[in-house]
Amino acid sequence: MSRSLFDETPLPDAPPERLAPGALLLRGFALGEAQALVQAAEQVMARAPPRHLVTPGGRTMSVGMTNCGVLGWVSSRTGYRYDRNDPLSGRPWPRMPDCFAELALRAAAQAGFAGFRPDACLINRYAPGTRLSLHQDRDEGDLSAPIVSVSLGLPAVFLFGGAQRHDRPARWHLAHGDVAVWGGASRLAFHGIAPLADGDHPSLGRQRINLTFRRAG
Ligand code: SIN
Ligand code: FE2
Repeated sequence: MSRSLFDETPLPDAPPERLAPGALLLRGFALGEAQALVQAAEQVMARAPPRHLVTPGGRTMSVGMTNCGVLGWVSSRTGYRYDRNDPLSGRPWPRMPDCFAELALRAAAQAGFAGFRPDACLINRYAPGTRLSLHQDRDEGDLSAPIVSVSLGLPAVFLFGGAQRHDRPARWHLAHGDVAVWGGASRLAFHGIAPLADGDHPSLGRQRINLTFRRAG
């Protein structure tokens, strides 16, 4: 049986795929609620529009970013930080939708990290051709909590490496509804997204939306 690019149905009883110790890929975990997640993300983005942040080195990021939750990740010429307010509006970030927090809690538990209560959700919006270079998520106050990352829309190639920048990353295919969870021995693994291939996703069109949940405070 052949599967088309947009056949997002997880294979029956597919076990979680192990990316590395402490890192799992839960294929299709969010598929049942993907539509609700997309709607909630659109509501957040209407209030706090994705923007292209500048890195401390002065480079403008190609991925559009925004946040919801108590804390939001931002980058500027002065560094990376978590901020309670959206620097564009000066007001608190939109609250984290209940469907976001519930999904993150369930996915983390499924991957062996019980009791995950994210206080930050970074929303990344990728257009065709955009990429996220290899990096570590290391600005969070609580590194004992995992990262939960939900893919929506166009498929992407997830690069997942080791603790050193020069560790050669493996390439994993992420589709709409897939959830990756990494913590423990993999919490500081280098990761990124290869340049997004063009396509037309049935519910999101020419874009990929990624929700990344963290315990930042
Ligand atoms: C991230 O590392 O912040 C996002 C990864 C992704 O888009 O899947
Ligand atoms: Fe990241």
